[in-house]
Amino acid sequence: MGKSDSFYILTDTHYVSKKNFTENSDFRRREKGDQIALVHSAEILRSFFKKILEDKETDAVLITGDLVNNGDRNSHEDFKNELKILTDAGKRVFVTTATHDYCGMGEDENFFKSIRYTDKGTEPIPHVRKCELLPLYYDFGPAQSDSVHEESGSYSLKLFGGVRLIAINDNGNGRSHCGLFDDGFKWLEEEIDKANNNNEKVLLAVHHPVIPPWDIYRHVAEFELFGGYKRLSELLCEKGVRVIFTGHTHVQNIRKYESVKGGYFYDVATTAAVSASGKMRKVEISEDRKTCDIKSIGIETIEGVDTKGKSARDYIYGLNFVGLLDNNINLVKSDFKKFEEEVDGFISKDKLEKHPHLFRFALLKGQKLKLSTLAKLSKKYNGMTKSEIKQLGKEPALPHLIKVAASAFGGNAPYPPDTAVYKIATGITAKIDKINSKHHLSFLDKIIPEGQTLTDVAIPMLYNNRTGNDDEITIEL
Ligand SMILES: [Fe+2]
Ligand SMILES: [Fe+2]
Repeated sequence: MGKSDSFYILTDTHYVSKKNFTENSDFRRREKGDQIALVHSAEILRSFFKKILEDKETDAVLITGDLVNNGDRNSHEDFKNELKILTDAGKRVFVTTATHDYCGMGEDENFFKSIRYTDKGTEPIPHVRKCELLPLYYDFGPAQSDSVHEESGSYSLKLFGGVRLIAINDNGNGRSHCGLFDDGFKWLEEEIDKANNNNEKVLLAVHHPVIPPWDIYRHVAEFELFGGYKRLSELLCEKGVRVIFTGHTHVQNIRKYESVKGGYFYDVATTAAVSASGKMRKVEISEDRKTCDIKSIGIETIEGVDTKGKSARDYIYGLNFVGLLDNNINLVKSDFKKFEEEVDGFISKDKLEKHPHLFRFALLKGQKLKLSTLAKLSKKYNGMTKSEIKQLGKEPALPHLIKVAASAFGGNAPYPPDTAVYKIATGITAKIDKINSKHHLSFLDKIIPEGQTLTDVAIPMLYNNRTGNDDEITIEL
């Protein structure tokens, strides 16, 4: 394998400049519930960069959007300075931008606001407009490319000999359209055709997903998919492009799309660098250009942050909603006031204090719920024997539920069909499906896509029933 045959992909770095909050501001509260780390986004980014610099064989890095968190100028300036860590070491750096990277300010539906958190509250700070993104990051992709689509800022460049990267700058508005318009599609088609005629393999990258991480995502948040994802999917199949790298959902996920007309491709979605499950992908292209091998690499520690002995994963996990609940659930019984303090920001303290007894009662009941109780409840549908249920003993259900929620982002959920949790979970959903088929439960319409059942929705949350591994894959190009 030659030196120039591999590159790294990071996404959703959600960088926040240190100038944007004071030590005693409400910013830490804001961080809770976002499911990403914001206060130490800079240190997390540098920790990933340190790993990249240690790898002398790889000379290229691609970052696919949501570079900063709120489209403010401070964060963009500091983020570009961070990129210098890589470029000064001789790495080629390419970026695309997305909805968090600019502020619409009424010009479009993008609703991000650039603010600074002070000791007294918040104040507006200079923001970056959408039209400024191309010049701002011109040196990170467009300058090295042989074709730029001016309107979107997408670009096409020779990544290695025989390998072309087409980076779609999908700076849509984040609400009604996140992809390319007709003109952009035409440019993209021409670029793929040019590459195919030159016998170059094409790798595509874009921020918003082309295939949703779960079918339910398409059902409840279709506007967050790449605008024109159906058109793009068919185009990739038709032109023989085998892989597109995406971000945005913060979900580590690999999915294959097969067209009824023939052809297929993979959407390799990478989780947010600043999430508890934060990873980057290393992509190695074989010397004969026939395959690309994708692996995932996380960070063990956060450079320059006192995490009190915690790993990077455990530290970030403890900041956000699943981790907050997981780490503080025992306080519900022993010190409910402290529980309220700890989860404030994720569950508002005001809300909890409106009905403290009700919340406490519900949370205590939830803690006491046993797997065996759920197994008995769904016995007719879960296929478990009496002795299997007996073996569950007093095993509580909540830690498993939390594990499912945590792995929704990190990928590779741990409950394949031979596990008790899978049998119980699908037993319960099958029971609900049965009730739903008899007495149409209208609230389920919001969750279940047409033609599917609740069990269909649940299974991909329990284990990777698609490619087998969300962290690794080898794709024939
Ligand atoms: Fe993001
Ligand atoms: Fe995004």
